[in-house]
Amino acid sequence: MENQNKPIYTASSNEEKTALLHKKNAEALLGGGEKRIEAQHKKGKLTARERIDLLMDEGSFQEIDKFVMHRAKDFGLDKEHYLGDGVVTGYGEVNGRLVYVFSQDFTVFGGSLSETHAEKICKIMDMALKNGAPVIGLNDSGGARIQEGVNSLGGYADIFYRNTLASGVVPQLSAIMGPCAGGAVYSPAITDFILMVENTSYMFVTGPNVVKTVTQENVTAEELGGASAHSTKSGVTHFSCKNEVECIRHIKSLLSYMPQNCEETAPIYPYELLEDETREILDALIPENANHPYDIREVVAGIVDSDSFLEVHENYADNIVVGFARIAGRSIGIVGNQPQSMAGVLDNHASIKAARFVRFCDSFNVPLLVLVDVPGFLPGTDQEWNGIITNGAKLLYAFSEATVPRITVITRKAYGGAYDVMNSKHIGADMNFAWPTAEIAVMGAKGASEIIFKKEIAEAENPEEKLQEKVDDYTAKFANPYRAAHRGFIDEVIVPSETRTKLIKAFKMLENKVDKLPRKKHGNIPL
Ligand code: HXC
Repeated sequence: MENQNKPIYTASSNEEKTALLHKKNAEALLGGGEKRIEAQHKKGKLTARERIDLLMDEGSFQEIDKFVMHRAKDFGLDKEHYLGDGVVTGYGEVNGRLVYVFSQDFTVFGGSLSETHAEKICKIMDMALKNGAPVIGLNDSGGARIQEGVNSLGGYADIFYRNTLASGVVPQLSAIMGPCAGGAVYSPAITDFILMVENTSYMFVTGPNVVKTVTQENVTAEELGGASAHSTKSGVTHFSCKNEVECIRHIKSLLSYMPQNCEETAPIYPYELLEDETREILDALIPENANHPYDIREVVAGIVDSDSFLEVHENYADNIVVGFARIAGRSIGIVGNQPQSMAGVLDNHASIKAARFVRFCDSFNVPLLVLVDVPGFLPGTDQEWNGIITNGAKLLYAFSEATVPRITVITRKAYGGAYDVMNSKHIGADMNFAWPTAEIAVMGAKGASEIIFKKEIAEAENPEEKLQEKVDDYTAKFANPYRAAHRGFIDEVIVPSETRTKLIKAFKMLENKVDKLPRKKHGNIPL
């Protein structure tokens, strides 16, 4: 049996004692041994320690519990011990800021989670909560340590419980860099962001064999729960990364937009304001024909600091775009309808995606910018039967409850309930701007005319001509931002090229915003 690491210490002199420490340190660094490290590399995967080296600022990582070993005795485990028990835990710095990390070591019992492995993770989570710093989990595990039975299941539950307690207190990021199956998936699912590595990681509640038995479906692990499936179909993962290096780069980038904890604000990056921050390119962006698409990301690029936009959930529900950016060096979260995908309509997936993002930003004091070009909610049985009422309400609730600075820019359509939902003044937005191309109404002019002038149009000598006349009339009256501006629902109608300047000033004005919700235990968000 490899590595019968019995805790017997024979050193007598101080020199020997120090040598023993060095020996044990060296042994711990080898995890499950060279052969298994080689096997890990052959799969195109890094080891737990190599991942930590990539993530942390050089020399900053301080390991905790390096010599912890499992206490199990069944199935020969009493004869097989590895220092650290399959997970490397500790703290250090990423870009000069404190983070806590655990990195599962697949070379030790397949990274499986024993009682002690779980205790190590819980220890750093408790420290992160007390000291107010993010927790980063690098997951690569065969799940519950099968030989330990319920002790292992209990360990998982201890982690889930802490994930929940830490939610909204410190940011929690989960990178999936290998298997993550069974109930183990629920720890990452509670955390704020999940990143997966293409082709070498997967997440599922039950694997392909069980799926085959229960549903007769033939599916590979990658198809069932790989990065591609979860970044496009389920939305479980927020980032699909080409390899582990890209995954770690994304973690670092994500951290740069967030504070250390819910009591702080995100770091401000140095930015010297130019004398002229206008962006002429925005003036020519909206097509003359209101039914023609454009890319909302171009609006984002015309507003935020160069190259500062980090899109989240890029491949999922692309009728809405969410992500982090900086404006004059300050971190903001952006939610924007995407007219070039399904005309930017709000559907189930888009509502859930945006609601979750808004919730994160509000939890961690990241101000929100909402870009609106929305024709309404998507009609139909598919949407209704899959809960567009409840899901749309999630977004409404998330915005309504957000106390961070909230600014809206209506670039074009803001129709129906979607106008209300997309951070309207009425649900607590602080500043609402509209471009001259904005159309704020209950619905599009044609649909509206067909309903309210139905009889008149039917009885007309030339119904088509009559309809057009009514459409023109309705358009003139409502397809503009001025009705809303007359009522103060829009604070200012602005030229698109001035948007960046206006937002810089408005976000600065809102910097010290204080807003409180009514006293309650917690709200009942329509989950
Ligand atoms: C103990 C495990 C293990 C586990 C793997 N190993 N999974 N040991 N408990 N759960 C060990 C193997 O015995 C092997 O040891 C080493 O890790 C590498 O495993 P391989 O099978 O050789 O690797 P690979 O071919 O890459 O396959 C990886 C794997 C597979 C897909 C993860 O090992 C596997 O299917 N494992 C079982 C997964 C599982 O059913 N887990 C329980 C899920 S239920 P040696 O000594 O040979 O190196 C669950 C419930 C959680 O997790 C509930 C929470 C509420």
